[in-house]
Amino acid sequence: MNKVRHFKSLLDINKNEFIRIIKRSIEFKQESHDNILNNSLQNKTMAMIFKKNSTRTRVAFETAMVTLGGHAIFLSSDTTQITRGEDLSDTAKVLSGMVDIVMIRTHNHSEVEELASNSSVPIINGLTEKYHPCQLLADMQTYYEERGSIEGKTVAWIGDGCNMCNSYINAAKILNFKLKIATPSGFEPDHKTLMLAKDNVELCDLPGQAVEDSDLVTTDVWTSMGDESESEKRKQLFKGYQINQNLFDKAKADAIFLHCLPAHRGEEVDADVIDGPRSRVWQQAHNRLFTSKALIEFLLNESK
Ligand code: CP
Ligand code: NVA
Repeated sequence: MNKVRHFKSLLDINKNEFIRIIKRSIEFKQESHDNILNNSLQNKTMAMIFKKNSTRTRVAFETAMVTLGGHAIFLSSDTTQITRGEDLSDTAKVLSGMVDIVMIRTHNHSEVEELASNSSVPIINGLTEKYHPCQLLADMQTYYEERGSIEGKTVAWIGDGCNMCNSYINAAKILNFKLKIATPSGFEPDHKTLMLAKDNVELCDLPGQAVEDSDLVTTDVWTSMGDESESEKRKQLFKGYQINQNLFDKAKADAIFLHCLPAHRGEEVDADVIDGPRSRVWQQAHNRLFTSKALIEFLLNESK
């Protein structure tokens, strides 16, 4: 392969490509509903390295590969040589000589960079402490299906300035929507990521200011994977950042609620909202499958 396209963060794709992937995901969804057989990934293999837990990401990528006629290999990092000290650069050189595409979920974003710079096949970031770009594909598909283009719309992010928040910032810049963020002090998103999207992002002092008149309201757990030692402290500091009906009522009347899941009802979101009529979290979760198909197809086609 002369040209390899990676998906380390959303910044690896441009606006047209982002929209293309969303539209292709919708086609894959239709194909699946119509029971149309598609073997376009026959004989293709994907290695999936997981250094953190997952339900959706693993099942989405594995199902995407299998239902397109290919195969996915689940590599729990505990059972590979990575945990025994093999360099990731060596791992990348070995895997990319055997499989067609690699996905990794890990703690340090630098590991995704290291894999990518040593791989001759596409590397997908399946979540790091810094970004969760795959989830944004599904979130944007869901918004698109529900309300059409997100360009010029307003999104409210409430809670931790975590990997999901950073990826929302990237998406705001690429798709040109306004992102209003409210986090407790000390939990702001990544500064460099923010600086790249200055014109699209506003940091708000209070959750109510962020949610006011927004078209989409979203949040994530207060304690991400890797931050568990701060869990109790965070529960105290994040009080007041829960998306409950009272807060959600400040959004536009037709605003939708999204959450990447897993969710903790009673913490970052109240059951009334996540299980309420304007929540689209199940559709969003299911869209992980279709966006995984579209992303794999895109990266393989673009890497020829
Ligand atoms: N939203 C998401 O990435 O879920 P998993 O952690 O279950 O993969
Ligand atoms: N911010 C969360 C997302 C889980 C999908 C975490 O990193 O644990």
